[in-house]
Amino acid sequence: MFLDSPTFTYGIILLATALYFLNWLKEHKASEYPLISNVPALGPTAPLLSYWGAFRFMISCQEMLAEGHAKFGGSPFRIATRRYWHYIVSDPKLLDELRRAPDDEMSFAVAVSEALEFEYALGVAALKDTYHVPIIKTTLTRNLSYLYGAIYDEICNAFADCIPAKDEWIAMPAMDTVMQVVARTSARIFVGLPLCRNQEFLDISVNYTTDVVKTGLILNIVPVFLKPTANRLINRVDRTIDRTYALLSSTMEERRAMMEQCGDEWTDKPNDLLQWLMEAAEGVEREPRALAARLLMVCFAAIHTTSMSFTHALYHLAAHPEYMKPLREDVEAIVAEHGWSKDSLQKMRKVDSFLKECQRFQGIGIVFLERKVLKDYTFSDGTFIPKGSCVSTSKMATHDQREYYDDPCVFKPWRFSDMPDETGEGTKYQLANTSMKFLPFGVGKHACPGRYFAANELKTMMAHLVMTYDVRMEKPGEIPRVLRFGTTTSPNRTAKVLFRKRKD
Ligand code: HEM
Ligand SMILES: *[C@@H]1O[C@H](CO)[C@@H](O)[C@H](O)[C@H]1NC(C)=O
Ligand SMILES: *[C@@H]1O[C@H](CO)[C@@H](O)[C@H](O)[C@H]1NC(C)=O
Ligand SMILES: *[C@@H]1O[C@H](CO)[C@@H](O)[C@H](O)[C@H]1NC(C)=O
Ligand SMILES: *[C@@H]1O[C@H](CO)[C@@H](O)[C@H](O)[C@H]1NC(C)=O
Repeated sequence: MFLDSPTFTYGIILLATALYFLNWLKEHKASEYPLISNVPALGPTAPLLSYWGAFRFMISCQEMLAEGHAKFGGSPFRIATRRYWHYIVSDPKLLDELRRAPDDEMSFAVAVSEALEFEYALGVAALKDTYHVPIIKTTLTRNLSYLYGAIYDEICNAFADCIPAKDEWIAMPAMDTVMQVVARTSARIFVGLPLCRNQEFLDISVNYTTDVVKTGLILNIVPVFLKPTANRLINRVDRTIDRTYALLSSTMEERRAMMEQCGDEWTDKPNDLLQWLMEAAEGVEREPRALAARLLMVCFAAIHTTSMSFTHALYHLAAHPEYMKPLREDVEAIVAEHGWSKDSLQKMRKVDSFLKECQRFQGIGIVFLERKVLKDYTFSDGTFIPKGSCVSTSKMATHDQREYYDDPCVFKPWRFSDMPDETGEGTKYQLANTSMKFLPFGVGKHACPGRYFAANELKTMMAHLVMTYDVRMEKPGEIPRVLRFGTTTSPNRTAKVLFRKRKD
């Protein structure tokens, strides 16, 4: 009873606010929040007042960025966040320097792990070794042609299991359904059959991301000295790793035994991420539990990102059935001639353009190239960024830039397929190709290593969907409002999309 009473709720809110404030004061004292800067600030700079700016940044980052760009033109500016100054740069020349800056000066990994308190939530060890990155970037990407049959097979099966193709319309929760398909497709490549259809494994791989993010956000507002205790109370990551380990252990044991017996090659050797990780892992990373944790880390990077991207696209398509015909024609013509393969996907320029425009227009972030500044940094134009700050660029300064895109505020599904590609291969403007004008996957040495796999998955899902279903929104023509939290966005997580068996 007491737990439901308003007094309890207000008590908790008050306590949380007080802790938040104490924490802020303490962290302010640390030199993490230097006030020296030659860059103008948006919003109040005085220690206590800047707290208001920090709060606004959490709830209306996009509006603040728009205000900053309007006020300071293309010049850098900074915004207070709870723990540091966040610098926004937009000049292409500075961005180029940003993406080239060495890891020990500007770090993407530290920015993410601080924002989500990985040090507590995941344990420091998890962050030291990133041997999975080159495996995803090289081995997975190069194997995509070879693995395409499995990807396509899993997508068809997952759609059939998750979304019935009936003659009448059936409403499905978009995000949850998409998440299931993405989790299964990813799992097929990460751990192979039959585990990729084990519902517990799929639930874990989906829930893990939300668990880690929730833990991180709660720890964010807990004072430093209480973080270890709070972490012990709320953190479920250890338990999740144990469960994953339990699901994978017999598979891993069998594979390890084969590896010891037969060396590098044997008949029917699995060709999936788990196998690549097992072969590459060294030292403590070879422990089965560490491998399970590593797999979950990849799921963290892969599943929600891809699902949110696809859900945005699904809402756009369901709200605008007129996009259906050109997409179908694109897919039909190519499949009729070349069948389903990675090369065929490359030829589906409308499908690609549609997904890419969704990323440009909406994407899953309001800032890109976010980096934590580990050493004082001076850009070539004299802009000085003190250690402890964050730097990034905004969606507005790139994807909504008139010099880069005509009518940037208009959703033009064929924007990219209409661009002439003089190389003739049609890859120049495709989804997975990053550039300074297209940043959803980052750019440069830290660009998302999984983007070729993600693009393959997204395109196959879209192509299969348009060939199999008709879709529309519950409220015809209406795309549910995009949700924003801090510097991230998400498509609506509960809205439903109507599906039925394709009629024509
Ligand atoms: C549409 C889906 C995806 C989006 C939008 C996306 C986006 C990103 C972005 C923005 C970064 C950071 C780049 C930077 O700021 O420098 C990143 C990093 C990363 N992504 Fe993705 N990603 C997606 C799918 C995937 C998939 C499917 C995988 C795995 C198979 C993956 C694995 C990773 C990893 C491991 C990193 C860290 C790279 C590093 O530390 O250098 N991502 N991703
Ligand atoms: C995953 O999360 C959902 C919703 O929070 C919950 O109902 C479900 O039991 C969780 N599944 C697992 C396997 O943790
Ligand atoms: C595909 O993966 C295997 C490992 O299973 C690797 O040996 C091979 O080099 C990869 N193929 C390519 C083209 O990279
Ligand atoms: C990617 O795009 C850039 C220009 O934006 C182009 O120079 C490059 O060749 C493209 N890469 C591929 C693989 O097509
Ligand atoms: C998501 O969409 C549903 C259905 O359109 C709506 O009822 C709900 O309020 C939306 N949620 C948010 C947080 O906007």
